[in-house]
Amino acid sequence: MIEIRGTGPAEFTDRLETVMSIYTAAMHPPAEQITGRQAIMRGHGAHPDFRCLFAELPDGRTAGFAYGFHGLPGQWWHDVVYQALQERSGTEVAEAWLGDSLELAEVHVHPDYQGKGIGRALVHALCEGRPERSAVLSTHDHPTAARHLYRSLGFTDLLTQFVFPGGYEHYAIAGAVLPLR
Ligand SMILES: CC(C)(COP(=O)(O)OP(=O)(O)OC[C@H]1O[C@@H](n2cnc3c(N)ncnc32)[C@H](O)[C@@H]1OP(=O)(O)O)[C@@H](O)C(=O)NCCC(=O)NCCS
Repeated sequence: MIEIRGTGPAEFTDRLETVMSIYTAAMHPPAEQITGRQAIMRGHGAHPDFRCLFAELPDGRTAGFAYGFHGLPGQWWHDVVYQALQERSGTEVAEAWLGDSLELAEVHVHPDYQGKGIGRALVHALCEGRPERSAVLSTHDHPTAARHLYRSLGFTDLLTQFVFPGGYEHYAIAGAVLPLR
């Protein structure tokens, strides 16, 4: 039986090592990116209305985590995506999706526990009871489990084949109206 447990920024920061080990097992990032990614995640913990959920096994091991926060101007991802959406679809659309949004920043389940409904439960629980109008996220623009999961939860593509500044991989930016269906 998996328990989904909510935490705030303090416990998230304390458990960054666990977070990073699940992230690394799930995403296989290049080794040279891990330190930078950890610093980015630590910074995320300081964003407003930050909430992290851990999926925990009865023996205390952690199977996965998800976290998000309130998106605001001045945050790197928010500003980049706002501008791209504004250029593509206009200010009204950018404002509708990003003007009052939960940024769903990370969702990862350790490979040993994938495909058991944990990712779905984490995203649902993270979005539940949020006051924001929408939830937004980016994910690799390939036919992945994540793409399938988000679509089935009601996320629609806002931008596809999007390349972040300084990057080269293609991402989809997706959004859903809250509450999730
Ligand atoms: C994406 C992820 C968080 C989903 O968590 P999970 O616990 O494995 O997902 P769930 O068991 O809740 O299942 C999600 C759905 O994906 C489907 N799925 C699983 N593997 C799939 C695949 N390779 N391709 C397409 N769909 C797949 C499942 O069948 C399920 O759909 P269904 O309920 O309609 O049958 C997890 O797979 C993961 O950590 N992946 C690697 C890291 C990652 O991509 N994170 C997201 C970054 S944005």
